[in-house]
Amino acid sequence: MIDVDAAQQVLRTNDRDGHTVPTDGLYPFQWSWDSGITALGWLQFDEARAWQEAHVMFSGQWDNGMVPHILFHGDAESYFPGPDVWGSNTAVPSSAISQPAVWATVIRLMFEQGKDRALAEAAVQQLLPKLIAYHRWWYRERDPDETGLICSYHPWESGMDNSPAWDDPLAKVPEVDWSYQRRDLGHVDSEQRPHKPQYDRYLYLVDFYKKNGFDSDFIYRNCPYRVIDVGLVAILHRATRDLLELCRAAGADEAMDDLSLALQRTENAISKLWSEEHRCFFNYDLVADEVLDEITTGTVLPLFAGLASQSKGAYMADLIDEWLDATAFALSSTHPASDRFEPQRYWRGPVWLHINWMIAEGLSDYGYADLAERVKQATRKCVDESGFYEYFDAQTGAGCGGGQFSWTAAVALYWLA
Ligand code: GLC
Repeated sequence: MIDVDAAQQVLRTNDRDGHTVPTDGLYPFQWSWDSGITALGWLQFDEARAWQEAHVMFSGQWDNGMVPHILFHGDAESYFPGPDVWGSNTAVPSSAISQPAVWATVIRLMFEQGKDRALAEAAVQQLLPKLIAYHRWWYRERDPDETGLICSYHPWESGMDNSPAWDDPLAKVPEVDWSYQRRDLGHVDSEQRPHKPQYDRYLYLVDFYKKNGFDSDFIYRNCPYRVIDVGLVAILHRATRDLLELCRAAGADEAMDDLSLALQRTENAISKLWSEEHRCFFNYDLVADEVLDEITTGTVLPLFAGLASQSKGAYMADLIDEWLDATAFALSSTHPASDRFEPQRYWRGPVWLHINWMIAEGLSDYGYADLAERVKQATRKCVDESGFYEYFDAQTGAGCGGGQFSWTAAVALYWLA
């Protein structure tokens, strides 16, 4: 049984005047996809607060349409890398990359499920042009050649920061040549966090955007890390479909043509990433021109986007069925048969609730309701066992990372309760 009061309390505790921090201490600001998922939790008991979460997020939207992955509301002393390192100089201090585009999906769900119709309609009216600008930014800046597959510039952009899928492309990025003090290790056991050589490269990339004046054309051609991230592509695709539904409902048709075309392009291109042998889609390293053949929960997310044919959906359902057999607490973020699987290190094995929600939604859409239910039960066990942690050991269900975590509590409220 989900403790609804305790889950609501997590969100209240992490509320900072209109935005929700992922957890106190470790992540003291507003992260984009956390915030979106968390809004679905607020929706269950405070609709006005749920809409406020979105308004505050979009208050930090860049002029070019990007919604940054972190908004640094307030003093950022305790966090590294803070706004000075990113160097973006925006009205609301922020990072210079984005994160999986969950917002249009979230806003559609809030619009359809919210009981206060006047509030929902007014909010969508305000947010719609911002969402359109955000989606146009993704397609324009990250796929200027109109290949149908947007490109990611940083493992942090995937939201699955430390996934083994990014090891090889990241290894080719130079290391920063200045020293720095990490802050994450003061909050969480180093066994559960990335190693220093990876961190050095994360920072090289942060520096690279700044040194090149955030010139999007230059970065697109020259960034030493350019990856087609299946999860990012799929979440954006699903969100663009949801955005078009919102446009239809609002009678706003100015963006319908170009966004429909973008959907079409992705639908035509996605099968290039398919591996029949592995029964999933694979990420792709654009710098090395190489397939990244690591099976992660990101690589089955095209289910969530309706981006796979029915027969590919059947292959992925098979894969997920076996995946669930392999660990008691599931789905693990990296397939347990991988030699890079680590049950506790973040994104290399542990379980994240919101990803499992997306996969279960996708399975239901493809007609695998029983399998979706298995994913849900295997996810619920984590919370039953350990409460609202950031993520969970896929073998023992032990809570890992930060405690009292917003998106975990929110998904528990929205999906599991
Ligand atoms: C970590 C996660 C990322 C998340 C952030 C805040 O960096 O990898 O997905 O958004 O924490 O919770």
